[in-house]
Amino acid sequence: MIALTGVRPTGELHLGNYFGAIKPLLDLQEKYVIFLFVADLHSLTTSCDIDTIKGNSQKLLAAFRALGFDPQKTIIWVQSEIPEVCELMYILSALTGFQYLHKGHAFKTACLENKNPTVALFLYPVLMAADILAFQADLVPVGVDQKQHLEICRDLAEKLRNMFGVETKIPEPLIMESTCAVPGVDGRKMSKSYKNTLPIFASVDEIVSIVRQVKTDSTPLGSPLNLENSVLGSYIKLLSKPEDYEKIKKEALAGNYGWGKIKEFVIELFLSKFSYAREKYVELLSDPAELWNQATEGAKIAKERARDFLGSILKRLNSHV
Ligand code: ADP
Ligand code: TRP
Repeated sequence: MIALTGVRPTGELHLGNYFGAIKPLLDLQEKYVIFLFVADLHSLTTSCDIDTIKGNSQKLLAAFRALGFDPQKTIIWVQSEIPEVCELMYILSALTGFQYLHKGHAFKTACLENKNPTVALFLYPVLMAADILAFQADLVPVGVDQKQHLEICRDLAEKLRNMFGVETKIPEPLIMESTCAVPGVDGRKMSKSYKNTLPIFASVDEIVSIVRQVKTDSTPLGSPLNLENSVLGSYIKLLSKPEDYEKIKKEALAGNYGWGKIKEFVIELFLSKFSYAREKYVELLSDPAELWNQATEGAKIAKERARDFLGSILKRLNSHV
């Protein structure tokens, strides 16, 4: 069984990416073969600044490994190393109605905001379906923002089956209720595009400065603070054991903590949770050649699987393939 996910190299990996996609994948390591990739082609819909994409891809490769994915056991690669995915996208696009894709939320939002969206943005959900179906993944851990993309992927898998008679898995999304929508420091969804993130590998000074700047209400010191439904409270909930969160919540409600103290808790918990990964990250980034070589090895294995699946479709079309 295969669990697969991808992250776009549009910026630094953040707490939302970690809890929405990376942590659930880490937890599946015992039972699934893990496929994890840097979705560099997908990031072209955000920016075509090639050097930045390359730099971010390298950082993501280091981040995946620093957070606990062993390249000997996990298949890690960079999307653009496997062009079979784009071939599959073309076939899937022939099964996708234009009107149907118009409902895609990223495209719809870009149109509403008059952003002159590209054809690639329109096709984003089809490329994502190809990312998943090419490797015949069983389970796809993602944040809740990707729910619609997974539905489109499942629909396209059904169409491949019904219209081409191809044997295919219908992948299941894994959207964890407690971690699928981590708020950003401004209260909106945490996202690289909103510049409201807590980047896992930022310097200590940056983390301290980001957390200190989180806006809080003006509850006077000594008055009850309700951590539920607050951004800082949700970080403490994610980063600590449930019993520790309950203790902090109770003390805050009793008026024993001000927001300053709560911010200190967030900083401490964040830095201690990721202390090992943060050290490992620096070490890994000091040898970029090794990072890329390992990704190329991963791509070779993943590519074979994509070839098999693509071949099974092309054979229906042309038995000489
Ligand atoms: P971003 O929105 O920051 O650009 P990506 O689009 O690269 O992040 O997302 C990579 C993965 O992380 C996806 O599975 C996505 O659903 C998940 N994710 C992104 N932001 C969050 C969040 N705030 N909470 C939970 N999961 C998230
Ligand atoms: N679209 C995802 C995002 O924006 C990233 C992604 C690309 C992905 N291909 C995927 C996630 C395949 C899971 C499976 O976050």
